[in-house]
Amino acid sequence: MSSSPNSPIVCNLPRVTIVGAGRVGSTLAQRVAEKNLADVVLLDIIAGMPQGLALDLMEARGIEIHNRQIIGTNNYADTAGSQIVVITAGLPRKPGMSRDDLLKTNAKIVVEAAKNAIAHSPNAIFIVVTNPLDVMTYLAWQATGLPRDRIMGMAGVLDSARFETFIALELGVLPADVKAMVLGSHGDLMVPLSRYATVNGIPITELLDAATIERLVERTRNGGAEIVELMQTGGAFFAPASATSVMVESILLNQSRLLPVATYLQGEYGLEDVVIGVPCRLGCGGIESVLELTLSDEEREALYTSAESVRQNIQRSQEINN
Ligand code: NAI
Ligand code: 2OP
Repeated sequence: MSSSPNSPIVCNLPRVTIVGAGRVGSTLAQRVAEKNLADVVLLDIIAGMPQGLALDLMEARGIEIHNRQIIGTNNYADTAGSQIVVITAGLPRKPGMSRDDLLKTNAKIVVEAAKNAIAHSPNAIFIVVTNPLDVMTYLAWQATGLPRDRIMGMAGVLDSARFETFIALELGVLPADVKAMVLGSHGDLMVPLSRYATVNGIPITELLDAATIERLVERTRNGGAEIVELMQTGGAFFAPASATSVMVESILLNQSRLLPVATYLQGEYGLEDVVIGVPCRLGCGGIESVLELTLSDEEREALYTSAESVRQNIQRSQEINN
Protein backbone atom coordinates (compact mmCIF):
# COMPACT_ATOMS: atom_id res chain seq x y z
CA MET A 1 0.00 0.00 0.00
CA SER A 2 1.48 3.40 -0.95
CA SER A 3 1.57 6.04 1.78
CA SER A 4 -0.07 9.46 1.48
CA PRO A 5 1.29 12.64 3.11
CA ASN A 6 -1.24 12.08 5.93
CA SER A 7 -0.33 8.45 6.61
CA PRO A 8 1.10 7.83 10.06
CA ILE A 9 4.88 7.33 9.99
CA VAL A 10 5.76 3.77 10.92
CA CYS A 11 9.11 3.61 12.69
CA ASN A 12 10.75 0.21 12.39
CA LEU A 13 12.66 0.16 15.64
CA PRO A 14 15.19 -2.63 15.97
CA ARG A 15 13.88 -5.60 17.91
CA VAL A 16 15.93 -8.09 19.88
CA THR A 17 14.34 -11.35 20.98
CA ILE A 18 15.80 -13.12 24.00
CA VAL A 19 14.73 -16.74 24.35
CA GLY A 20 15.03 -17.76 27.99
CA ALA A 21 14.02 -15.11 30.53
CA GLY A 22 16.16 -16.50 33.33
CA ARG A 23 19.02 -14.70 34.98
CA VAL A 24 21.16 -14.14 31.89
CA GLY A 25 18.17 -13.43 29.63
CA SER A 26 16.41 -10.96 31.92
CA THR A 27 19.65 -9.12 32.76
CA LEU A 28 20.43 -8.90 29.05
CA ALA A 29 16.94 -7.50 28.42
CA GLN A 30 17.69 -4.79 30.97
CA ARG A 31 21.09 -3.99 29.39
CA VAL A 32 19.69 -3.81 25.82
CA ALA A 33 16.73 -1.63 26.80
CA GLU A 34 18.63 0.66 29.17
CA LYS A 35 21.46 1.13 26.66
CA ASN A 36 18.63 2.22 24.33
CA LEU A 37 19.73 -0.30 21.70
CA ALA A 38 16.43 -1.93 20.73
CA ASP A 39 12.98 -3.00 21.78
CA VAL A 40 13.11 -6.36 23.51
CA VAL A 41 10.92 -9.47 23.34
CA LEU A 42 11.58 -11.75 26.29
CA LEU A 43 10.32 -15.32 25.76
CA ASP A 44 10.22 -18.21 28.21
CA ILE A 45 8.29 -21.45 28.64
CA ILE A 46 7.14 -20.47 32.13
CA ALA A 47 3.72 -18.86 31.87
CA GLY A 48 3.55 -15.32 33.24
CA MET A 49 7.24 -15.08 34.15
CA PRO A 50 8.54 -13.17 31.09
CA GLN A 51 5.39 -11.02 31.14
CA GLY A 52 6.07 -10.06 34.77
CA LEU A 53 9.73 -9.29 34.09
CA ALA A 54 8.82 -7.19 31.06
CA LEU A 55 6.30 -5.17 33.06
CA ASP A 56 8.87 -4.63 35.81
CA LEU A 57 11.44 -3.40 33.24
CA MET A 58 8.80 -1.17 31.59
CA GLU A 59 8.03 0.42 34.96
CA ALA A 60 11.71 1.40 35.31
CA ARG A 61 11.74 3.30 32.00
CA GLY A 62 10.83 6.68 33.45
CA ILE A 63 13.57 6.42 36.04
CA GLU A 64 16.21 5.06 33.64
CA ILE A 65 15.05 7.56 31.00
CA HIS A 66 14.45 5.50 27.89
CA ASN A 67 11.42 4.62 25.82
CA ARG A 68 12.13 1.11 24.59
CA GLN A 69 9.32 -1.44 24.60
CA ILE A 70 9.85 -4.67 26.51
CA ILE A 71 7.38 -7.45 25.76
CA GLY A 72 7.15 -10.68 27.73
CA THR A 73 5.66 -13.72 26.02
CA ASN A 74 5.40 -17.50 25.78
CA ASN A 75 4.53 -17.34 22.09
CA TYR A 76 7.09 -17.20 19.25
CA ALA A 77 4.61 -15.30 17.06
CA ASP A 78 5.36 -12.25 19.24
CA THR A 79 9.06 -12.42 18.28
CA ALA A 80 8.35 -11.87 14.56
CA GLY A 81 10.64 -9.53 12.66
CA SER A 82 13.51 -9.52 15.15
CA GLN A 83 16.91 -8.26 13.94
CA ILE A 84 18.71 -10.30 16.58
CA VAL A 85 17.71 -13.46 18.45
CA VAL A 86 19.68 -14.39 21.56
CA ILE A 87 19.22 -17.91 22.93
CA THR A 88 19.81 -18.19 26.68
CA ALA A 89 17.18 -20.90 27.27
CA GLY A 90 18.36 -23.97 29.10
CA LEU A 91 19.68 -25.14 32.39
CA PRO A 92 22.65 -23.46 34.06
CA ARG A 93 25.41 -25.43 35.76
CA LYS A 94 24.97 -26.74 39.28
CA PRO A 95 27.94 -27.15 41.68
CA GLY A 96 30.26 -29.95 40.56
CA MET A 97 28.62 -30.12 37.13
CA SER A 98 30.67 -29.47 33.99
CA ARG A 99 29.26 -27.48 31.09
CA ASP A 100 29.27 -30.69 29.08
CA ASP A 101 26.95 -32.36 31.57
CA LEU A 102 24.34 -29.96 30.27
CA LEU A 103 24.72 -31.23 26.73
CA LYS A 104 21.75 -33.53 26.43
CA THR A 105 19.07 -31.37 28.04
CA ASN A 106 20.16 -28.12 26.51
CA ALA A 107 20.60 -29.57 23.01
CA LYS A 108 16.87 -30.26 22.76
CA ILE A 109 15.95 -26.84 24.16
CA VAL A 110 18.33 -24.90 21.88
CA VAL A 111 17.38 -26.76 18.69
CA GLU A 112 13.68 -26.19 19.38
CA ALA A 113 14.25 -22.52 20.22
CA ALA A 114 16.38 -21.93 17.11
CA LYS A 115 13.81 -23.54 14.80
CA ASN A 116 10.89 -21.63 16.31
CA ALA A 117 12.72 -18.31 16.28
CA ILE A 118 14.00 -18.54 12.68
CA ALA A 119 10.48 -19.41 11.50
CA HIS A 120 9.27 -15.98 12.69
CA SER A 121 12.45 -13.92 12.06
CA PRO A 122 14.06 -15.34 8.92
CA ASN A 123 16.41 -12.37 8.57
CA ALA A 124 17.67 -12.36 12.15
CA ILE A 125 21.24 -12.72 13.37
CA PHE A 126 21.48 -15.34 16.13
CA ILE A 127 23.67 -15.27 19.23
CA VAL A 128 23.74 -18.44 21.32
CA VAL A 129 24.61 -18.21 25.03
CA THR A 130 23.36 -21.55 26.38
CA ASN A 131 26.03 -24.04 27.50
CA PRO A 132 27.92 -26.03 26.46
CA LEU A 133 28.36 -22.98 24.29
CA ASP A 134 30.36 -24.13 21.30
CA VAL A 135 28.29 -27.28 20.77
CA MET A 136 24.99 -25.41 21.23
CA THR A 137 26.09 -22.85 18.63
CA TYR A 138 26.89 -25.66 16.22
CA LEU A 139 23.47 -27.26 16.80
CA ALA A 140 21.67 -23.94 16.34
CA TRP A 141 23.63 -23.34 13.12
CA GLN A 142 22.51 -26.78 11.88
CA ALA A 143 18.90 -26.29 12.99
CA THR A 144 18.50 -22.88 11.33
CA GLY A 145 20.48 -23.57 8.17
CA LEU A 146 21.84 -20.03 8.43
CA PRO A 147 25.10 -18.95 6.78
CA ARG A 148 27.86 -18.83 9.38
CA ASP A 149 28.07 -15.04 9.39
CA ARG A 150 24.57 -14.86 10.90
CA ILE A 151 24.92 -17.29 13.79
CA MET A 152 27.51 -17.19 16.55
CA GLY A 153 28.13 -17.91 20.21
CA MET A 154 29.01 -15.65 23.13
CA ALA A 155 31.83 -16.77 25.40
CA GLY A 156 35.11 -15.16 24.40
CA VAL A 157 33.98 -11.66 25.34
CA LEU A 158 33.10 -12.93 28.81
CA ASP A 159 36.26 -15.02 29.23
CA SER A 160 38.40 -12.11 28.02
CA ALA A 161 36.64 -9.74 30.45
CA ARG A 162 37.44 -12.14 33.28
CA PHE A 163 41.10 -12.33 32.26
CA GLU A 164 41.20 -8.51 32.03
CA THR A 165 39.57 -8.24 35.47
CA PHE A 166 42.13 -10.53 37.11
CA ILE A 167 45.03 -8.66 35.45
CA ALA A 168 43.57 -5.32 36.58
CA LEU A 169 43.09 -6.59 40.15
CA GLU A 170 46.65 -7.91 40.26
CA LEU A 171 48.17 -4.66 38.99
CA GLY A 172 45.71 -2.28 40.67
CA VAL A 173 44.87 -0.57 37.36
CA LEU A 174 41.60 0.46 35.71
CA PRO A 175 39.96 -2.63 34.14
CA ALA A 176 39.12 -0.64 31.00
CA ASP A 177 42.86 -0.05 30.43
CA VAL A 178 43.48 -3.80 30.18
CA LYS A 179 42.91 -5.52 26.83
CA ALA A 180 43.11 -9.27 26.43
CA MET A 181 41.76 -11.95 24.14
CA VAL A 182 40.70 -15.49 25.03
CA LEU A 183 40.22 -17.94 22.15
CA GLY A 184 39.08 -21.55 21.94
CA SER A 185 36.15 -23.32 23.52
CA HIS A 186 34.20 -22.01 26.50
CA GLY A 187 35.49 -24.41 29.10
CA ASP A 188 38.56 -25.64 30.88
CA LEU A 189 40.40 -25.83 27.54
CA MET A 190 39.93 -22.18 26.61
CA VAL A 191 43.06 -20.43 25.31
CA PRO A 192 43.87 -17.10 27.04
CA LEU A 193 46.49 -15.35 24.88
CA SER A 194 48.81 -13.81 27.48
CA ARG A 195 51.20 -12.71 24.74
CA TYR A 196 48.56 -10.36 23.34
CA ALA A 197 47.35 -8.96 26.71
CA THR A 198 48.30 -5.34 27.40
CA VAL A 199 47.73 -2.47 29.81
CA ASN A 200 47.27 0.54 27.52
CA GLY A 201 49.59 -1.05 24.99
CA ILE A 202 52.21 -2.34 27.45
CA PRO A 203 52.45 -6.15 27.25
CA ILE A 204 51.62 -7.76 30.61
CA THR A 205 54.84 -9.79 30.24
CA GLU A 206 56.63 -6.48 31.03
CA LEU A 207 54.55 -6.00 34.18
CA LEU A 208 54.04 -9.47 35.68
CA ASP A 209 56.26 -12.52 36.07
CA ALA A 210 55.48 -15.78 34.31
CA ALA A 211 54.19 -17.57 37.43
CA THR A 212 51.73 -14.76 38.19
CA ILE A 213 50.47 -14.70 34.60
CA GLU A 214 49.96 -18.48 34.72
CA ARG A 215 47.97 -18.10 37.96
CA LEU A 216 45.70 -15.50 36.31
CA VAL A 217 45.28 -17.70 33.24
CA GLU A 218 44.21 -20.62 35.44
CA ARG A 219 41.75 -18.42 37.32
CA THR A 220 40.30 -17.31 33.97
CA ARG A 221 39.89 -20.92 32.83
CA ASN A 222 38.06 -21.60 36.09
CA GLY A 223 36.14 -18.30 36.03
CA GLY A 224 32.64 -19.71 35.54
CA ALA A 225 33.13 -22.56 38.04
CA GLU A 226 34.51 -20.16 40.67
CA ILE A 227 31.23 -18.25 40.62
CA VAL A 228 29.10 -21.41 40.59
CA GLU A 229 30.98 -22.70 43.64
CA LEU A 230 30.45 -19.41 45.48
CA MET A 231 26.79 -18.94 44.58
CA GLN A 232 25.69 -22.59 44.86
CA THR A 233 22.40 -21.57 43.21
CA GLY A 234 23.32 -21.13 39.54
CA GLY A 235 25.97 -19.44 37.47
CA ALA A 236 27.20 -15.98 36.59
CA PHE A 237 24.80 -13.67 34.83
CA PHE A 238 25.79 -9.99 35.21
CA ALA A 239 29.05 -10.24 33.23
CA PRO A 240 27.57 -12.75 30.73
CA ALA A 241 24.72 -10.31 30.02
CA SER A 242 27.18 -7.42 29.64
CA ALA A 243 29.32 -9.48 27.27
CA THR A 244 26.31 -10.42 25.14
CA SER A 245 25.07 -6.84 25.04
CA VAL A 246 28.43 -5.73 23.61
CA MET A 247 27.93 -8.16 20.71
CA VAL A 248 24.33 -7.00 20.21
CA GLU A 249 25.53 -3.39 20.22
CA SER A 250 28.33 -4.00 17.72
CA ILE A 251 25.83 -5.60 15.32
CA LEU A 252 22.98 -3.10 15.72
CA LEU A 253 25.26 -0.05 15.55
CA ASN A 254 27.48 -1.59 12.86
CA GLN A 255 30.55 -0.93 14.99
CA SER A 256 32.77 -3.61 13.41
CA ARG A 257 34.31 -4.37 16.79
CA LEU A 258 36.97 -7.07 16.77
CA LEU A 259 35.77 -9.51 19.43
CA PRO A 260 36.40 -13.15 20.27
CA VAL A 261 33.30 -14.93 18.97
CA ALA A 262 32.39 -18.61 18.71
CA THR A 263 31.99 -19.22 14.99
CA TYR A 264 31.80 -22.09 12.51
CA LEU A 265 35.27 -22.48 11.07
CA GLN A 266 35.81 -23.26 7.40
CA GLY A 267 39.55 -23.84 7.27
CA GLU A 268 40.71 -20.87 9.36
CA TYR A 269 43.43 -21.87 11.83
CA GLY A 270 43.55 -25.19 9.96
CA LEU A 271 40.18 -26.16 11.51
CA GLU A 272 36.99 -27.17 9.73
CA ASP A 273 33.42 -28.10 10.63
CA VAL A 274 33.73 -27.07 14.26
CA VAL A 275 32.57 -24.05 16.27
CA ILE A 276 35.21 -22.36 18.39
CA GLY A 277 36.10 -18.87 19.62
CA VAL A 278 38.33 -16.78 17.35
CA PRO A 279 38.61 -13.02 16.72
CA CYS A 280 35.78 -11.78 14.47
CA ARG A 281 34.63 -8.37 13.29
CA LEU A 282 30.97 -7.89 14.19
CA GLY A 283 28.84 -5.50 12.16
CA CYS A 284 25.31 -5.12 10.83
CA GLY A 285 25.59 -8.26 8.71
CA GLY A 286 26.85 -10.31 11.64
CA ILE A 287 30.36 -11.75 11.34
CA GLU A 288 32.07 -9.55 8.74
CA SER A 289 35.38 -11.40 8.85
CA VAL A 290 37.42 -13.86 10.87
CA LEU A 291 40.93 -12.73 11.81
CA GLU A 292 43.64 -15.38 11.61
CA LEU A 293 46.22 -14.46 14.23
CA THR A 294 49.74 -15.79 14.07
CA LEU A 295 49.93 -18.25 16.94
CA SER A 296 52.95 -19.80 18.59
CA ASP A 297 53.27 -23.60 18.40
CA GLU A 298 52.05 -23.85 22.00
CA GLU A 299 49.00 -21.62 21.40
CA ARG A 300 48.09 -23.48 18.20
CA GLU A 301 48.39 -26.82 20.01
CA ALA A 302 46.11 -25.52 22.79
CA LEU A 303 43.56 -24.32 20.20
CA TYR A 304 43.59 -27.72 18.48
CA THR A 305 43.08 -29.53 21.79
CA SER A 306 40.20 -27.20 22.58
CA ALA A 307 38.66 -27.74 19.12
CA GLU A 308 39.04 -31.52 19.43
CA SER A 309 37.05 -31.56 22.66
CA VAL A 310 34.26 -29.51 21.03
CA ARG A 311 34.31 -31.87 18.05
CA GLN A 312 33.84 -34.88 20.33
CA ASN A 313 30.87 -33.23 22.02
CA ILE A 314 29.36 -32.29 18.66
CA GLN A 315 29.65 -35.97 17.75
CA ARG A 316 27.95 -36.95 21.03
CA SER A 317 25.19 -34.44 20.41
CA GLN A 318 24.53 -35.85 16.92
CA GLU A 319 24.20 -39.34 18.43
CA ILE A 320 21.76 -38.03 21.07
CA ASN A 321 19.67 -36.30 18.42
CA ASN A 322 19.44 -39.41 16.20
P1 NAI B 1 18.28 -19.68 34.24
O1 NAI B 1 17.88 -21.02 34.76
O2 NAI B 1 18.22 -18.52 35.14
O3 NAI B 1 17.41 -19.35 32.94
C1 NAI B 1 17.15 -20.27 31.93
C2 NAI B 1 15.75 -20.00 31.45
O4 NAI B 1 15.49 -20.81 30.30
C3 NAI B 1 14.66 -20.34 32.48
O5 NAI B 1 13.87 -19.20 32.75
C4 NAI B 1 13.86 -21.44 31.81
O6 NAI B 1 12.49 -21.42 32.12
C5 NAI B 1 14.11 -21.14 30.34
N1 NAI B 1 13.82 -22.24 29.46
C6 NAI B 1 14.04 -23.58 29.67
N2 NAI B 1 13.60 -24.27 28.62
C7 NAI B 1 13.09 -23.38 27.73
C8 NAI B 1 12.50 -23.50 26.46
N3 NAI B 1 12.32 -24.70 25.88
N4 NAI B 1 12.08 -22.37 25.84
C9 NAI B 1 12.23 -21.16 26.43
N5 NAI B 1 12.80 -20.99 27.63
C10 NAI B 1 13.21 -22.09 28.27
O7 NAI B 1 19.75 -19.85 33.64
P2 NAI B 1 20.80 -18.70 33.31
O8 NAI B 1 21.68 -18.48 34.46
O9 NAI B 1 20.06 -17.56 32.71
O10 NAI B 1 21.70 -19.41 32.18
C11 NAI B 1 21.14 -19.73 30.94
C12 NAI B 1 22.13 -20.54 30.09
O11 NAI B 1 23.24 -19.71 29.73
C13 NAI B 1 22.72 -21.74 30.81
O12 NAI B 1 22.87 -22.82 29.90
C14 NAI B 1 24.09 -21.26 31.25
O13 NAI B 1 25.00 -22.31 31.47
C15 NAI B 1 24.46 -20.40 30.06
N6 NAI B 1 25.50 -19.42 30.29
C16 NAI B 1 26.45 -19.27 29.32
C17 NAI B 1 27.43 -18.33 29.41
C18 NAI B 1 28.41 -18.16 28.32
O14 NAI B 1 29.45 -17.54 28.53
N7 NAI B 1 28.14 -18.67 27.12
C19 NAI B 1 27.54 -17.49 30.61
C20 NAI B 1 26.48 -17.67 31.55
C21 NAI B 1 25.49 -18.61 31.38
C1 2OP C 1 30.20 -19.01 32.91
O1 2OP C 1 31.29 -19.06 32.36
C2 2OP C 1 28.53 -20.72 33.41
O2 2OP C 1 29.45 -20.51 31.25
C3 2OP C 1 29.08 -19.85 32.38
O3 2OP C 1 29.97 -18.27 33.88
